[in-house]
Amino acid sequence: MMKKKIVVAVTGASGAIYAKLLLDKLQQLQGQVAEVAVVMSDNAKQVWEFELDDTGHGSYPFKTYAKNDFMAPFASGSARFDTMVIVPCSMGTLGRIASGVSDDLITRAADVILKERRKLILVARDTPLNLIHIRNMQTVTEAGGIICPAIPSYYSKPKTIEELAMTVVNRVIDLIGLENESYRWEGI
Ligand SMILES: Cc1cc2nc3c(=O)[nH]c(=O)nc-3n(C[C@H](O)[C@H](O)[C@H](O)COP(=O)(O)O)c2cc1C
Repeated sequence: MMKKKIVVAVTGASGAIYAKLLLDKLQQLQGQVAEVAVVMSDNAKQVWEFELDDTGHGSYPFKTYAKNDFMAPFASGSARFDTMVIVPCSMGTLGRIASGVSDDLITRAADVILKERRKLILVARDTPLNLIHIRNMQTVTEAGGIICPAIPSYYSKPKTIEELAMTVVNRVIDLIGLENESYRWEGI
C-alpha cells in the first residue's frame, strides 16, 4: 500500500476530542503514513483548550501550519496530498467550502483536494441542522467530499467518553484507508 499524505484540519466546532484522538491514532499508525500536516483555526485552539483542559495541540510530531499560510505545500494540488480530514468541522467552514471561499489555508486545502478529485472527509458537527447546513452538505457531497458526521455509535457498548468518541474516529481511519484494529460489528 502506498503511504498516505494526510492533512488534518481542526476547526472550532465542539468535539476537539475527535481531533485529539485522531492525531493520537495517526501517531500510532505512523508506519502507514508518509506525512501528516496539521492546521488549526483560531477557534479550534480555543475550543480544544476549553473542552479538553489541555494546551497540547501544538505538541504533536507533525508539521503544523498557520491558518493563513498559503505557502503550505497542500495549498497546491502539485504537492499530491491524498486525503484531508476536517475534524471537527464547523458549519462555518463547511459553508465556506461549499461556496468555494478559499480565504484561509483550511478552505483552500479543501478546495484543492476536491479539484484534484482526492479524498475530503468532513467530520461535521452541529445540532440541530438548518437547511443551509443540509444544502451545504449536499453540495460538498456532490463535489466528491464525504460528510462523516460526529455522531458516535453505541453498539460496541463504549464505557468512557474516549471510547464513545473513538467510534467516530475509527470510522474516519477506515475512510482514510488505514489498517486499524477496532470494533467490527459481526451481527448477533
Ligand atoms: C465552545 C464552542 C463550541 C462550538 N461548537 C460549535 C459546533 O458544534 N458547531 C459549529 O458549527 N460551530 C460551533 N462553534 C462556533 C464556531 O467556533 C464558530 O462558528 C467559528 O466561526 C468557526 O470558525 P472556524 O470554522 O474557522 O473554526 C462553537 C464555538 C464555541 C466557542
